[in-house]
Amino acid sequence: MILDQSLNKILIIDFGSQFTQLIARRIRELGVFSEIISHKKIKNKNIDSSIKGIILSGGPLNVYEINRYSFDKEILKNNIPILGICFGHQILSKLNGGKVKQSKHREFGLANVYKKKDSLLIKNFFNQKKIHKVWMSHADQVSKLPKNFRVIASSQNSKFAIVEDKTNKFYGVQFHPEVTHTENGKKIIKNFIFLICKIKKNWSSKDQKMKLIKEVRNQIGENKVICALSGGVDSSVVAQLLNKAIGKKLYCIFVNTGLLRKNEEKQVVDTFKKRLKMNLIYVNAEKEFLKKLTNVSDPERKRKIIGNLFIRIFERYAKKIKNVKFLAQGTLYPDLIESRSVTGSQTSKIKSHHNVGGLPKKMKLKLVEPLKFLFKDEVRNLGLELNLNTEIISRHPFPGPGLAIRMPGIITKEKINILKEADYYFIQGLKEHGLYNKIWQAYAALLPVKTVGVMGDNRTYEYLCLLRAITSEDGMTADFYEFKKSFAQMISNKIVNSIRGINRVVYDITSKPPSTIELE
Ligand code: XMP
Repeated sequence: MILDQSLNKILIIDFGSQFTQLIARRIRELGVFSEIISHKKIKNKNIDSSIKGIILSGGPLNVYEINRYSFDKEILKNNIPILGICFGHQILSKLNGGKVKQSKHREFGLANVYKKKDSLLIKNFFNQKKIHKVWMSHADQVSKLPKNFRVIASSQNSKFAIVEDKTNKFYGVQFHPEVTHTENGKKIIKNFIFLICKIKKNWSSKDQKMKLIKEVRNQIGENKVICALSGGVDSSVVAQLLNKAIGKKLYCIFVNTGLLRKNEEKQVVDTFKKRLKMNLIYVNAEKEFLKKLTNVSDPERKRKIIGNLFIRIFERYAKKIKNVKFLAQGTLYPDLIESRSVTGSQTSKIKSHHNVGGLPKKMKLKLVEPLKFLFKDEVRNLGLELNLNTEIISRHPFPGPGLAIRMPGIITKEKINILKEADYYFIQGLKEHGLYNKIWQAYAALLPVKTVGVMGDNRTYEYLCLLRAITSEDGMTADFYEFKKSFAQMISNKIVNSIRGINRVVYDITSKPPSTIELE
């Protein structure tokens, strides 16, 4: 159970909807703490006075299957306001004596809802015409309302599109107010949490900063903590939070694998050691990594070698610091939400991702995971609040194995140097043209083929550089970014003219799926 009892909150009970995390984010954007828990985990005894409202999420189940999943119905009897969304609306009606059946017409996509009555839930939601566009995604629907419920709005196919039981403070919407396709959908959530649940704002980066610093101090006391710093957003924010909280009791270890982006090691040392005055241990392990990777071209072997060597080096240096009790990690909230597998499906492992997470097991350290209740955008805001500069905060994600997986085939020092330059020119170009923040992730890769070109009057025979730039929400799916011809031309000229070793540039136009974001 991962409920945080120190703050008032809106609890989201998850029935497996792909939008559950969005509900939590919308509430937090409104300045209120919210938590997600699977309907299989939450029991009535866990409902305490910090819970000021409950949202039942959508989900792929059918209400008649729900007994199999043992949702504790006593939760509905606490006199806490409840909003059911889509499946949540159906289950709320069903458990109060209503009926649910398969719809004659399944509704997916936009639909109009028509206002029938006033309610606090829809204050300022409808316009003068009393019609509103909402986003539906359901095959079942409520066919008979429970006693005490009344209809607030209907759509052509869903008579009970918005309903309420004012006495018990139960509310239901058949559509999804949390998605942006529902115009003004945030209003429904806002009305529910502020007008109906009457919860007060308690969630801003400033509040979080103070709260987290206090908690970390309490947890750690006079002990020492180690942290693997990669220079990425999450580990940087964790390190700086701990730096503020416990100062010199924090020891950060930064391993230069030789597979980092151009000048990255210098930036990390300058920022964390010089500017922020952290205890930073800089380990230059370039040669060790390169040696271990000699003649290795299999992507999974590359990943394993890098992951294992990283752990060994980290342990080697961590042991030199005596009496360490804690290991700090940048685990985020989406990593913790267990309910994704509510339907039993688990995404299959496509690549063995190397994260610093869970490391190092042998040392038996306790974990400090101060970001474990935060979403990525909240981590970024917290980082700004902690005085990290925007360059670190808005950085594109970078994989643990670094440039090794952007260089299919064998890895050599020469190739690494060429790739670092190409990547640098590409990223600089994006920044100079105001494109960097419009793109979720971008990088250059070096392909293990040489092609013929002509420069001046001379024939060249050099490597092929691949550029990838994608837009995405969370890295799970992605689409390639469409550059203007002038930009693409400028970058290709810059790379080919400035870097010896590359004479051709190609752009990756596949989306994910079927491709992945990285090449290996
Ligand atoms: P793929 O290639 O799986 O990448 O579509 C999805 C996202 O994950 C990043 N990635 C990694 N991150 N360790 C990491 O910390 C890794 O081993 C790793 N492999 C891929 C990738 O850059 C993209 O953002």
